Amino acid sequence: MSSQLQIWHPFTQEALDPPPIRITKAKGVYLYTDDGRRLIDGISSWWVNLHGHGHPAIIEAITEQAARVDHVLLAGFTHDAVEELRAALQKILPAGLSHIFFSDDGSTAVEVAVKMAVQYWQNIGRPEKRAIVALDHAYHGDTVGAMSVGAESAFTSPFRSLLFPVHRVHSAYCYRCPVGKTRPTCDIDCLTKLEQLLTQKHGEIAAVIAEPLLQGAGGMIVHPVEFLQRVRRLCAESQVLLIADEVLTGFGRCGNMFACEVAGIVPDLMCLSKGLTGGVLPMGATVCTSGIHQAFVGADRSRTFYHGHSYTGNPIAAAAAVASLKIFEREPVFERIAMISSIHCQRLAAIREHRAVGDVRSIGTMAAIELKTDDPGYTSKLRPKLYKFCIEAGVLLRPLGNVVYVLPPYVITPDELNYVHDRIAEALDVCV
Ligand SMILES: Cc1ncc(COP(=O)(O)O)c(C=O)c1O
Repeated sequence: MSSQLQIWHPFTQEALDPPPIRITKAKGVYLYTDDGRRLIDGISSWWVNLHGHGHPAIIEAITEQAARVDHVLLAGFTHDAVEELRAALQKILPAGLSHIFFSDDGSTAVEVAVKMAVQYWQNIGRPEKRAIVALDHAYHGDTVGAMSVGAESAFTSPFRSLLFPVHRVHSAYCYRCPVGKTRPTCDIDCLTKLEQLLTQKHGEIAAVIAEPLLQGAGGMIVHPVEFLQRVRRLCAESQVLLIADEVLTGFGRCGNMFACEVAGIVPDLMCLSKGLTGGVLPMGATVCTSGIHQAFVGADRSRTFYHGHSYTGNPIAAAAAVASLKIFEREPVFERIAMISSIHCQRLAAIREHRAVGDVRSIGTMAAIELKTDDPGYTSKLRPKLYKFCIEAGVLLRPLGNVVYVLPPYVITPDELNYVHDRIAEALDVCV
């Protein structure tokens, strides 16, 4: 046994998985390895990178900011970078969301939203409204609160004893419809369970949390737009808050700036992270309505939201976020997104008939292929084979079990994106 300190890599089974690949340079859509290979980053380094690695405008912004104010606490202080970010986000967030609370990553943005929802009802004299409703197949992060509102899975099972109970309702997973119906002729009947729950128990429910339109880690499940619209309506009618976890879907991933915008809805709380800084530095944020914020203001200190992290509102991360949002204004980002979306649609239409394909799904810059298998789910035996094949072909993809998906940085060219789809098509011939 070596006495040297070792890196314990995330989501990795050392006894089974290949050793980590050492990256020495990242530029545009490419990751360069120490043994001279070049990989297309087909998953935007865990769904974070928007404008390509090493974008000069982001590098310049963080370099300047580091020299000016590197870090300062956000309790009792503020700084130009976070104020500029507030102003930039105000221009793009759905109208009706008025206050932003910064944290560190997607999981903490979710923790903050759940805690805000619960304390909101307490602060307005309804402490009995404290339960949370979550969707099947949900993923909201790996901290204990975020795992509690995520679906039960191999990721969460060792920690079952730590998780708080939640009400679980159906997701609109049309390929494996939980109520045996077929789109588009169904009436979104999977919502009945939520409808009944809210009718019977709204008096004890604080919030419903959902990944709007696209459930990511649960298998890249794309919901019909009407599903989210009706969840929004049901929550409003039942006086239950809606938390939209836009950690993955925000900043253009679903075609518009936010998935909620695609559906024309405004949630009560929205969680942001991943693409917030263009994918360069960690930062999370939870945005809420003025009604929620107001409930925390008063002469009684017990109304305070006692939550904060050391690096909350970090100036360098905020500067990266401001630079990333400026790129949306200066470069044809939504044209790039539309190009990606159009190539995804063409390529999925072509591969749909392949003998190994069960379902294809896409929205915005995400394209997914669910493969037929007798062991569906994250631990499917197809996963390591597909991963290895694609890496050897020069493309980084991390299939979610039997679901292969592409979620590239927006600067990928049509040729590069077609190259990725060509490799997937080959992988299906060889691996399945
Ligand atoms: C929808 C969603 N919420 C929350 C998270 C957790 O984010 P983080 O890994 O930054 O904690 C993720 C991560 O994949 C996510 O997809």
